Amino acid sequence: MNDIWTEKYRPKHLDDIYGQERIIERLKAYVAQGNIPHLLFAGPAGTGKTTSAIALSKELYGDQWNASFFELNASDERGIDVIRNKIKEYARTTTLSKKGFKIIFMDEADSLTNEAQAALRRTMEKYSGNCRFILSCNYSSKIIDPIQSRCAVFRFRYISKEGVIKWLEHISEGEGLTISEDAMNLLVRISEGDMRKATNLLQISATTTEEIDEEAVRQSANIAKPGDIEYMIKTAIEGDFMQVRNKLYELIIDYGLSGNDIVRQIHKAIYNIPMDNERRMRLVDRIGEAEFRMVQGANERIQLEALLAHFGNDLYK
Ligand SMILES: Nc1ncnc2c1ncn2[C@@H]1O[C@H](COP(=O)(O)OP(=O)(O)OP(=O)(O)O)[C@@H](O)[C@H]1O
Ligand SMILES: [Mg+2]
Repeated sequence: MNDIWTEKYRPKHLDDIYGQERIIERLKAYVAQGNIPHLLFAGPAGTGKTTSAIALSKELYGDQWNASFFELNASDERGIDVIRNKIKEYARTTTLSKKGFKIIFMDEADSLTNEAQAALRRTMEKYSGNCRFILSCNYSSKIIDPIQSRCAVFRFRYISKEGVIKWLEHISEGEGLTISEDAMNLLVRISEGDMRKATNLLQISATTTEEIDEEAVRQSANIAKPGDIEYMIKTAIEGDFMQVRNKLYELIIDYGLSGNDIVRQIHKAIYNIPMDNERRMRLVDRIGEAEFRMVQGANERIQLEALLAHFGNDLYK
């Protein structure tokens, strides 16, 4: 349990990357050619951008890949000057590999200002003789056109439900876990196509048991049973306020839910509870108000109790 699974299971080869088949196919064609253009990897977190950049380098350079791969994080470095100097230094040292070029991987390229990107563009041109850039970002729209047009753009997508399931089955095989169907569905739903999130959530769920059921996932993800929230709302509507308060405290203490978690879940659950539309609208409005106040720093328990008191208020019947 000492290893972090996202690292332990980070795919080493392009073929081991799940759910990005079309991208992997194109990257493998570059490996076959033994050359790459500058690349721009764009897409949501935890979908394999960094993993693909490393796997690509491993396949191009073999065991010595580390000597030809240089990683920079655009948001770590203070300003483009630092980046330019580092790149200059790295580009100047002779290329060790037979490929004739080295890779500079720049993470979070979309955090660079337009000015910094303009400077990066010149740097890319200056060193394109013996360096290839792989830029990674969440939003390609934040990358200036002149850089985009110099790169082959790869759009990473959220991993499909099937992809996440296959990936989690792969890990559970490695760790000797069993995952119930309900638990798997919940893992997929919470991780929303983000493989880092899915992996971390599975690891936390497996802290106390090797047989992962829905409850284990729920506890690790800090979400209450939908039934609990619905029960609380219904009881509030009926006006049994002390019962409601007990349930609320149980959720806060036993599940470690934050006020915001609870408000969000109340917001979801309210659409499953039969009531006339006008009333639902008033309550949703009130939920919005409680959420806003909590974000502004108001006391969470007081806000939640006030919100739930509204549910039972005559005005809303
Ligand atoms: N397509 C994938 N197939 C298998 N595992 C994946 C995939 N994508 C992500 N993972 C898992 O999630 C971890 C994080 O992935 P990675 O670092 O590649 O994400 P990223 O797309 O670079 O995200 P970010 O935008 O946050 O930098 C990996 O170590 C791996 O365990
Ligand atoms: Mg990354």
